[in-house]
Amino acid sequence: MQRLNLETTLARETISERELQEMKALLEAVEAMLQEQDGPGDDFLGWLDWPTTMKPEEIEKIKITAQQLREQSEVFLVIGIGGSYLGARAAIEWLTPPFTPNAKGNPEIIYAGHHLDSDYLFGLMQYLKDKEVTVNVISKSGTTTEPAISFRMVKALMEEKYGRDGAKDRIVVTTDAAKGALKTLADSEGYQTFVIPDDIGGRYSVLTPVGLLPIAVAGIDIESMLQGARDAQTLYNETVITDNPSYQYAAYRNALSRKGKTTEIMVSYDPSYHYMAEWWKQLFGESEGKDGKGIFPASLQLTTDLHSMGQYVQEGLRNLFETVVRTEKPVKDILVPDTGSDDDGLGYLAGKPLSLVNKKAMEGTSMAHTDGGVPVLQITIPEKSPYWAGQLFYFFMKSCAISGYLLGVNPFNQPGVEAYKANMFALLGKPGYEKLKKELESRWQE
Ligand code: PA5
Repeated sequence: MQRLNLETTLARETISERELQEMKALLEAVEAMLQEQDGPGDDFLGWLDWPTTMKPEEIEKIKITAQQLREQSEVFLVIGIGGSYLGARAAIEWLTPPFTPNAKGNPEIIYAGHHLDSDYLFGLMQYLKDKEVTVNVISKSGTTTEPAISFRMVKALMEEKYGRDGAKDRIVVTTDAAKGALKTLADSEGYQTFVIPDDIGGRYSVLTPVGLLPIAVAGIDIESMLQGARDAQTLYNETVITDNPSYQYAAYRNALSRKGKTTEIMVSYDPSYHYMAEWWKQLFGESEGKDGKGIFPASLQLTTDLHSMGQYVQEGLRNLFETVVRTEKPVKDILVPDTGSDDDGLGYLAGKPLSLVNKKAMEGTSMAHTDGGVPVLQITIPEKSPYWAGQLFYFFMKSCAISGYLLGVNPFNQPGVEAYKANMFALLGKPGYEKLKKELESRWQE
């Protein structure tokens, strides 16, 4: 079993061996809290052994449903927000080769329910009108406003296109086993449903039906992804702390933040990591950002953003550290063409693999950033594959739990998310929010 590699050389100057040794006892205490399940949020630890406890029948049901949905559709619409769509999108965009053509049998995967923009939804409705469509609406609570509004519109469109019975065969719901408006609707309409386990929160749910169904509809091998997660469950629960990269990653983050490095930038040199970074930002941001604490997770796409944000990283406020995520080798490596001419000044690169050029750009950038006071951690994955997506997801979830406990917060709740919702409901006149509405309106008038 191979692990991903965490390289810390370019951050070591900021953390001494002694400091890391001092953290060992803390890390052991945190590991004990996770294993004994007696830390804050201990009723949300289902993801810890999920890869080995998920029932084979459920995996089979996902695969069968995904195959049916693929055969039925040109477009597969995933409706969800936050942890209810980011994991699926991260895996799908990481693993689907760019410019892959879609057709019935290998549908285009598109997303809704992750914002409230009218133009987007209007455009989406127009786009779906003439396509063969299937839908997976995902919401653990079953009451989240953004996906509920999108689904209300999409449901009406599906019923107009296929009739109520036809729509029923094209809509799959992933939600709580018993509660929530979406569950009630699914039962009354007779939609096929998948259950989000009670003890797994949204941002830790990518390896449950929340992520696995859309990922399987995209044609990705979920058995292999789960195998990666199972191996990760063994590898990253290794209790010899110094031998476990998920502990080391959490320890470095914690030590760096205590030295004032309070913003972590996930950096990649491959655009397919974009949504992996979005998923990672939600995982760490929502897990750690509370009680006035937390490292602010940001992301950059290099070398693209070196021409927009590179200046800031090199010389701006020195509260940054960087975590590069990279794949050892691309799926297809192409060569810089040898044209026999140096007219464009690229003769020195003729015949060289583009992956080498990209790697040297990364090495040069990492060294420049370190010299500029931005410590760099590097996570290397041997290859882009479903197996490694499974390992990577589990690695980050485990690191995040440890990191949250090290920080002294509950990494499994998100009380702060309610504040905007309450204000929005009050301002929209939702029954029960009359008092708050008055308070908010008087504040705007002042
Ligand atoms: O991680 C979380 O719990 C959140 O980001 C949720 O996934 C998000 O708020 C969506 O919630 P729900 O699935 O209940 O619609």
